[in-house]
Amino acid sequence: MNHPKWVNNKELINWVEETAALVKPDHIEWVDGSQEENDRLCQLLVDSGTFIKLNEKKRPGSFAAFSDPSDVARVEDRTYICSKRKSDAGPTNNWVDPNEMKNNLKKMYDGCMKGRTMYVIPFSMGPLGSSISHIGVEITDSAYVVVNMRIMTRMGKQVMDVLGSEGEYVKCLHSVGAPLQKGEKDVPWPCNKEKYIVHFPEERSIMSYGSGYGGNALLGKKCFALRIASTMAREEGWLAEHMLILGVESPDGKKNYVAAAFPSACGKTNFAMMIPPKSFEGWKISTIGDDIAWIKKGKDSRLYAINPESGYFGVAPGTNYKSNPNAMATIEKNTIFTNCALTEDGDVWWEGMTKEPPANLTSWQEEKFDPTSGKAAAHPNARFTAPAAQCPSVDPKWEDPVGVPISAFIFGGRRSTAVPLVYQSSNWNTGIYLAATMGSEMTAAAAGTLGKVRRDPFAMLPFLGYHMADYFNHWLQIGRELPDPPRIFGVNWFRTDENGKFIWPGFGENVRVLKWIIGRVRGQASAVESPLGRMPRHQDIDWTGLEDFTEEDFHSLMTINREIWKDEVLGHEELFSKLYDRLPKEFLFLRELLRSRLWRSPEHWGLAPERF
Ligand code: GTP
Ligand code: SPV
Ligand code: MN
Repeated sequence: MNHPKWVNNKELINWVEETAALVKPDHIEWVDGSQEENDRLCQLLVDSGTFIKLNEKKRPGSFAAFSDPSDVARVEDRTYICSKRKSDAGPTNNWVDPNEMKNNLKKMYDGCMKGRTMYVIPFSMGPLGSSISHIGVEITDSAYVVVNMRIMTRMGKQVMDVLGSEGEYVKCLHSVGAPLQKGEKDVPWPCNKEKYIVHFPEERSIMSYGSGYGGNALLGKKCFALRIASTMAREEGWLAEHMLILGVESPDGKKNYVAAAFPSACGKTNFAMMIPPKSFEGWKISTIGDDIAWIKKGKDSRLYAINPESGYFGVAPGTNYKSNPNAMATIEKNTIFTNCALTEDGDVWWEGMTKEPPANLTSWQEEKFDPTSGKAAAHPNARFTAPAAQCPSVDPKWEDPVGVPISAFIFGGRRSTAVPLVYQSSNWNTGIYLAATMGSEMTAAAAGTLGKVRRDPFAMLPFLGYHMADYFNHWLQIGRELPDPPRIFGVNWFRTDENGKFIWPGFGENVRVLKWIIGRVRGQASAVESPLGRMPRHQDIDWTGLEDFTEEDFHSLMTINREIWKDEVLGHEELFSKLYDRLPKEFLFLRELLRSRLWRSPEHWGLAPERF
């Protein structure tokens, strides 16, 4: 078999040959990452009906794709962690014995690339050659995956130069699971009803079958940079997290970096690219990453974070020039849009882009869109794939191989009640408890009952490659090793009033909360004790320029309702009983401490009584 001169890693060549013998493609292509190659593949995707070229004047270099209606998001119930021992995957992951799984998968992969081209994509998660970075090789039969991976990762020949003849890499095998018979015409979005997203943590390998969508198919993202990397991180003493990373510069020129974990479709991209309102002149937010953070201890015993990705695979609906102008600027060109609606002049649209939908839209299901039908024009999990370098707020250090020092961790979910706008944990351990017991109401980014609260510890429930309780212990251990660990905060942008409307304006206004957080980190902002930790009083938050938001509104965002919190703590217990055998002992004490604090009267805390 032929491989290009720039490939000299024997072990990799063997793996590619073995795989080809199993999946039996018509052609094999080593992906070099060049512009010509990308142009050729995009044209191929246009010719096969997967891509629609967008209006070159309106969206230069951009394409739209519609997926199969059965393949629109990650499939958590088809995602497996096949560690040797079931107990190492833990009760929150699906598990099958790795040998049994491999035998089963081998049957499915046998001949699965017939009639197709098998692409071999060497890629780096993290800046090329950085000591924090890791290399993977994805084998895929989807050209759509290749052109998306070119945006989301550093890929191609340059990566082989770093890998060299002996280097190690994570094996990522992907197939849409739709072989073509001789002469059979391809469909625009090939996939298989049966899907498997499988991880072998001990081998550090991934096998994905049947889906072409997002995290199921772009294996560098959730499969490698979170599930496999979290197991590597645990062994090696670092962290692989579902977190955005942003920089905050105050008017005096001082800068801090924070990392924040929110579950899927809960505002990471928006927060990472936020533009403060006019009244916050001099405050600058810059973006390091919007989805994944790899965090390691530096020589100075602080935590340093990098964004292992080089693009954004962001939620489209809701994104507009008001909610996220930086994202809108990022996606003006060279962007792939999946499951967005099409306008009649060859551009894209989605719910929330403008108040009224333009006339004559084509919906993501390729129907003429009828605004009175009650159906959405874009799928709620429609996404854009765009290069990070195009983001106006991208931080000058976003590719710094050393990473940026983290001053604070922020955890937040989508909660219509219970959780206040912002609060600070008293110390590292109560912060880990806060993160571990975090809950969120379900969104379209994951399969489940929409709106139901589920515990999503650290926003990592779908993304952890090992036992959840071991992960809690790992975080506690990291804290023990840090002389001055980052401060930990909880936030919630999603409280609603009795009409179900969001109380907090959110988006750019979130900088008010961030300013208080940074103030706490710098020892400048005041707070009072509460059952949940430290909280701002009304006068501790900068309200300049925010009209129509009263002190009563603030209180309604900050109440700690004891009845609701009784249930909340029962929810913690439910999670703990699932994890009891490996749960950190500290957690039971912390839960009882929380319970007793909740029991104390409002007077005890010196808080306004309406806060309870
Ligand atoms: P993944 O890419 O799925 O990991 O998620 P993400 O956290 O990056 O999601 P994203 O930022 O794209 O979240 C999009 C959703 O969050 C949209 O429904 C937005 O309207 C909503 N959202 C983001 N920020 C805010 C906010 O401050 N307030 C409110 N109410 N909604 C917000
Ligand atoms: C998420 O669901 O958290 C995402 C999108 O970031 S995907 O890559 O499809 O998992
Ligand atoms: Mn995500």
